[in-house]
Amino acid sequence: NPGVAGGKSTLGFTEIDKTITDNHRVAPGYTAQVLIRWGDKVEPRAEAFDPRNQSAWAQAKQFGYNNDYVGYLPLPAGSNNSDHGLLFVNHEYTNTELMFPGLTEKDAQDKVTKAQVETEMAAHGNSVIEVKKENGKWRVVQNSIYARRISFLTTEMMLSGPVAGHDRVKTKADPTGTRVLGTLNNCAGGKTPWGTVLTAEENFHQYFSGTAAGTKEAENHKMYGIEGKPAYGWGKHFDRMNVDKEPNEPNRFGWLVEVDPYDPTLMPRKRTAMGRFKHEAAGCAVNPDGTVTVYTGDDERFQYLYRFVTKGKYHPEDRQSNLGLLDDGTLYVAKFEADGTLRWLPMIYGQGPLTPANGFHSVADVLIETRRAAKLVGATSMDRPEDVEVNPVTGNVYAMLTNNTKRTAEQADAANPRAKNAYGHVMEMIPPAKNGKADHSAPAYQWDIFLLAGDPSKPEHGAKYHPDVSTNGWLACPDNCAFDPKGRLWISTDQGSEQAKNKISDGIYAADVSGPGRALTKFFYATPRDAEMCGPEFTPDGKTLFVAVQHPGEGKDSTFDKPSTRFPDFNEAMPPRPSIVAITRNDGGEIGG
Ligand code: FEO
Ligand code: CA
Ligand code: CA
Ligand code: CA
Repeated sequence: NPGVAGGKSTLGFTEIDKTITDNHRVAPGYTAQVLIRWGDKVEPRAEAFDPRNQSAWAQAKQFGYNNDYVGYLPLPAGSNNSDHGLLFVNHEYTNTELMFPGLTEKDAQDKVTKAQVETEMAAHGNSVIEVKKENGKWRVVQNSIYARRISFLTTEMMLSGPVAGHDRVKTKADPTGTRVLGTLNNCAGGKTPWGTVLTAEENFHQYFSGTAAGTKEAENHKMYGIEGKPAYGWGKHFDRMNVDKEPNEPNRFGWLVEVDPYDPTLMPRKRTAMGRFKHEAAGCAVNPDGTVTVYTGDDERFQYLYRFVTKGKYHPEDRQSNLGLLDDGTLYVAKFEADGTLRWLPMIYGQGPLTPANGFHSVADVLIETRRAAKLVGATSMDRPEDVEVNPVTGNVYAMLTNNTKRTAEQADAANPRAKNAYGHVMEMIPPAKNGKADHSAPAYQWDIFLLAGDPSKPEHGAKYHPDVSTNGWLACPDNCAFDPKGRLWISTDQGSEQAKNKISDGIYAADVSGPGRALTKFFYATPRDAEMCGPEFTPDGKTLFVAVQHPGEGKDSTFDKPSTRFPDFNEAMPPRPSIVAITRNDGGEIGG
């Protein structure tokens, strides 16, 4: 109950203020160390970074652009080692105007050359790096056997699950409908209980030109935002990125992709059983009966929150047998009722409205057009579902609903209570217990709003937190989140272009989820100017917090030559560079105390 008065947070750090500065900032007594930047070496034979002389070939071995999700995987696999592990990182998108000299944001569609497009393609995807902490300081281990770039340009992936091989995913380059070159717009993600990563394909629409007018895919593509107005010029140079030439290509994106960071030889799998939409993230939990649940949201205004429950069971002692779990199970979508009940509506081909009468002729049709199917079964339209994470201590589930300024007063409901929701809110979902353990396969949960973001001193914001939240501690636009080993919630924010209006930096806020400090958010880390905050991820001991500084300098009229910040190098010869930052406490203790 966020209204509980009195008491204090268990979080012992001193808050920072909300000023926007060129550099990042962290609470006193902590150190924020830049670990790796766009262009740094990942694969052993990578060339040194030269921003004025880029190539796709070089970029495909270097750290990619716009780091988002960060997953820490201990070494050796299966251990709890907090000083040595792998980082799996997403490279969500590129800022053409900040990557290349002489281009503006608009030039991303018109003026980019084919060579620049190929470099952008290589800058999308993922990186796996080996990292080690020595004498309190993190470093990237060079020439690691795990070091690996995955990109849109270079990495072949397998379509697996019910959609694999279906006619609607066949293309000229892949008449089998089972092999896809690359992954796109990998936003956040999650780790599975068996130590693989799910990387979430989000805004895949913005890379495709054309409309596929007159084909049976036109309506489908429109529903996902492919309307002949791409943000990138890729379709000018590559036929596969033009849906008038290759109408099925977008059906091969918008999936959760499973990658095994411990096995560089294993081809990534697009797990189609979990549906196709603008996946933000994937939060996993093992159920009392051994099945596994994956929570995932569709980040667009009025879209939905989902969960997938596997048919098979997780076997902790047999890693190999878990690798196929995500190909078979049931996809559900959330319906939030006004009485505080959350109902999970199954989306099963042939049941309810998901029949040929509504244009669904197979399981694959339901999964390719997940949005349309979810609407038909009666899901609740949400205010942009971003990250969903399971609290490892309580088993409760938290969803970041980042904002939705398009919601009208008539559309406001119990779960999305504010019209013109500019600041977003955090949803708490409470599964019932079975044998003393949270059951993420139960048909119904309870739900509650954990906080309504915005400035609590401004009644017009309609914010709701713990009453002791300070002028520094309120937040805007929750995006990703993580839990520390004590089960406290750490929220990262992304105001997007609203940052200039709100005049506060993005960053990391932390709060207790129970007790007298519940929903008493405190400001811990601030990003540099125009950067959003992504990837919060703790080591198992809670002594390191990795964060991703995404798109520093992505401001109005900010370019390679005249950026709004030159984070993190502050060198006139260097444009701003998205970077991974490792935060530790100077006395070596747990983050947050
Ligand atoms: Fe890529 Fe939903 O943010
Ligand atoms: Ca983002
Ligand atoms: Ca995000
Ligand atoms: Ca966001």
